[in-house]
Amino acid sequence: MKKSQRLEKIVALAKRRGFIFQSSEIYGGFGAAYDYGPLGVSLKNSIAQRWWRAMTQLHENIVGLDSSILMHPKIWEASGHVAEFHDPMVDCKQCKTRYRADEFAGDYDQLDWATVKCPTCGTTGKMTEPRQFNLMFKTMVGPVEESGSEAYLRPETAQGIYVNYLLTQGAMRLKVPFGIAQIGKAFRNEIVARNFIFRTREFEQMEMQYFVKPGTDDDEMTYWKADRINFFTNALGINAEKVRFRQHGETELAHYAKEAWDIEYEFPFGWSEIEGVHNRTDFDLRRHQEFSGKSMQLFDEESREKYFPYIIETSAGLNRMLLAVLSDAYWEDEENNRVVMRFHPALAPVKAVICPLVKKDGLPDLAHKIADDLKQHWKIIYDQQGSIGKRYYRQDEAGTPFGITVDHQTLEDDTVTIRERDSQKQDRIPVTGVVKAIRDRIDNYSRFEPTEKKEL
Ligand code: GAP
Repeated sequence: MKKSQRLEKIVALAKRRGFIFQSSEIYGGFGAAYDYGPLGVSLKNSIAQRWWRAMTQLHENIVGLDSSILMHPKIWEASGHVAEFHDPMVDCKQCKTRYRADEFAGDYDQLDWATVKCPTCGTTGKMTEPRQFNLMFKTMVGPVEESGSEAYLRPETAQGIYVNYLLTQGAMRLKVPFGIAQIGKAFRNEIVARNFIFRTREFEQMEMQYFVKPGTDDDEMTYWKADRINFFTNALGINAEKVRFRQHGETELAHYAKEAWDIEYEFPFGWSEIEGVHNRTDFDLRRHQEFSGKSMQLFDEESREKYFPYIIETSAGLNRMLLAVLSDAYWEDEENNRVVMRFHPALAPVKAVICPLVKKDGLPDLAHKIADDLKQHWKIIYDQQGSIGKRYYRQDEAGTPFGITVDHQTLEDDTVTIRERDSQKQDRIPVTGVVKAIRDRIDNYSRFEPTEKKEL
């Protein structure tokens, strides 16, 4: 199967099984906007919860924050976004298709645009010269057209952390190094949005800003790079061979960064960024002090002096992480003629399907009793429609890791079968041990690899 086909299949499954829908579909869709269906929102929330736990629970010196999307417009002047946050855009005058100029060449200023052929209509010599296009969405706050009421939808969550960092540090009595984590929406008026949920105009970021003593920043950078790449394999269960680092070159560095690394995943459309780990130095804090006129410094007890901490930032896209999880999980099990979403069980939207083997002989009542017990712990579903094989396969495609089946033997000895999604292995366990059996399997999960795994 071609790589592009793989993405198409994932997009189709995502729609069919209620993970992700095109936004405003009944109106023909709305470009680069997506809605998350029942399984999608559950998977997205699970990923976010794992990140939140990794940051604010497993690190005692990291706390959470939820700042607003609309903030004082001066913040975006101070951050450099008003002046610097733009992409170069070119248009084909023949077919009106719009491109990012840097898709044609990194050094697009040197390109003779009169000789460039439009990839869509094939016409040469019809490209405009590159124009810089600011990616921030503007909106009006309060009565329309009133002067001074223009605001921006935040293009990153980070600035909400910087402007609250002293309040947070004081309230929580934090000492450097400490971190502030935030999950929230960000908006960018992307010139070209493509590859499903990879690049959209509205998306969610999970950012953590780590405040450190200047001079310790290089070591902290090393720590955070290791910590973050581990998250993908350990917390999300992603294949380690599919994630890697890529360092930003000099010309690529953002205006605030001294050093930057992307964590990339090998998506069906190639290696692309999911997360950035950046050394932002004291750029942002100095700028906010300059623009607000308020001190943004910390007091050092030892030297009795004020200083600007340096900031190591880990900045992940939740939607991209979700796309990586979907891409990594998709498995066509040709031997058994089924499609399986091999999610880590801790992430799976539904943990178990409870099935009576037949709809009679008291089996549904017993199955309902087990379902009632399990739903105190996890999202589960009860299913008595169709053959048991069909019921299992339906759930394999939704990524449900366990199937609990009540059969006639249950009436005799109070045992049920537990089936594992990937290996299809079945064990008999006592009804009283079902919760523990599922919990143990989630805790001890290691990814099942079929003997002859065909890479798709
Ligand atoms: N605060 C730093 C910052 O925002 P970034 O590299 O511009 O850095 C961080 O963005 C992450 O946000 C990216 O690695 C990506 O996962 C996500 N992201 C950025 N633009 C996106 C878009 N248009 N659609 C989806 N995710 C996006």
